[in-house]
Amino acid sequence: MSQADDHAGSRRDFLYYATAGAGAVAAGAAVWPLVNQMNPSADTRALASIYVDVSNVQPGTQLTVKWRGKPVFIRRRTQAEIDAARAVSLDDPTLIDRGSENHNKPGTDASDANRTLDEAGEWLVMMGVCTHLGCVPLGNGSGDFGGWFCPCHGSHYDTAGRIRKGPAPRNLEIPVAQFTDETTILLG
Ligand code: FES
Repeated sequence: MSQADDHAGSRRDFLYYATAGAGAVAAGAAVWPLVNQMNPSADTRALASIYVDVSNVQPGTQLTVKWRGKPVFIRRRTQAEIDAARAVSLDDPTLIDRGSENHNKPGTDASDANRTLDEAGEWLVMMGVCTHLGCVPLGNGSGDFGGWFCPCHGSHYDTAGRIRKGPAPRNLEIPVAQFTDETTILLG
């Protein structure tokens, strides 16, 4: 091999590696934002689960907390509210959503017992987001069914947060929640 050939060969190798290197960098640059987007931000991780102190929530009142960027209603119901919710038959024609996906126990119906946190039905924890177009319904006995009312387009929810009248298609969603002690609820 002449010195000239040797030089040309080195040059070709150099070009080849330089191109390969640039390609690798470009591919890395393209992949990184995608991977980065899939990692939840520190904020999101911090809010994935929250503990809520409910020791000051009196019967007949509710607490609204922000969780994962959305309001969550934590209501301590009166016996009258519990009785009203539990008296509703699943055959009631005003019960629009009897389905199986909006309450604690997947595959179960929308009976009041399946929606409350405790067996006695005193505690009801729901997303405070109207299932029509996402407004925050008014609480504290609002609407024709004594539960929540969404003024945006007139959806009435009962004391179990079930849609009974208006355009909303589904009951207020029940998030994953549990008591960790007598006065603390863990969301998420
Ligand atoms: S957003 Fe609640 S009724 Fe439309």
